[in-house]
Amino acid sequence: MQGSANLNVMIKAARKAGRSLVKDFREVENLQVSSKGAGDFVSRADIAAEEIIREELMAARPNYGWVGEESDPVDGKDPTRRWIVDPLDGTTNYLHGMPHWGVSIALEHKGEIVAAVVLDPAKDEMFLAEKGQGAWLNNTRLRVSGRNRMIECIFATGIPFGGRPDLPETLQDIARVAPACAGIRRWGAAALDLAYVAAGRFDGYWERGISTWDIAAGILLVREAGGLVEAVVPRVSPFDDGTILSANGGIFDGFAKVIRNV
Ligand code: IPD
Ligand code: CA
Repeated sequence: MQGSANLNVMIKAARKAGRSLVKDFREVENLQVSSKGAGDFVSRADIAAEEIIREELMAARPNYGWVGEESDPVDGKDPTRRWIVDPLDGTTNYLHGMPHWGVSIALEHKGEIVAAVVLDPAKDEMFLAEKGQGAWLNNTRLRVSGRNRMIECIFATGIPFGGRPDLPETLQDIARVAPACAGIRRWGAAALDLAYVAAGRFDGYWERGISTWDIAAGILLVREAGGLVEAVVPRVSPFDDGTILSANGGIFDGFAKVIRNV
């Protein structure tokens, strides 16, 4: 894919942060056997990755705004553009030494995501999209899956943890979706869940209680791969509602009905 200058800046930042996270991940794997665990070490790795990305992006585009999971937002001199960054999505997997986590970087222009990078460093998979230019995995163009019977589909979701109040709703969702499909996966990294919908690996994904940085890049990947994305509440932005529903066009309406329970 011949990316724009902005996309190339994003790729460079993601790769640099990815290298730092991979290096620290080797240490995290060793820390599994220690009684103290890897918690503090992982927070430092996460923050260090965010700093790397922030330095790279802000040096290249000093006027753009910034929203990142680990730091305070910054309003840019250019109020129309901002970076939306999750330096380490899938933190719990990372903490437990499981190689399924990613770096997510999105560029928003006038309220719309226009460029997206989701890097899975452990598998060396780089998911890219630009508005109107399609979505790519490394050098291969992505398309959402063509499955149009719910019963043959696999859906991903996130299950709220640590006493979050939206757990009962998600359990009710699962009780409705599970009998209607071929399987549900909870793999623990929302940015990769969306990237996998874009790649046709998952047929759809939904989640409640999700943050903008978890889904900003992934939303563009799915749309540019021909899929649909909405909030669980119709006609509301996933960023405002903190819920997301995405699938290939063949099953989207049926899937949305099951999640919306209508
Ligand atoms: C989390 C992951 C997880 C999702 C959570 C997110 P983090 O992000 O994306 O899959 O279910 O809602 O908070 O904490 O690993 O960056
Ligand atoms: Ca995240």
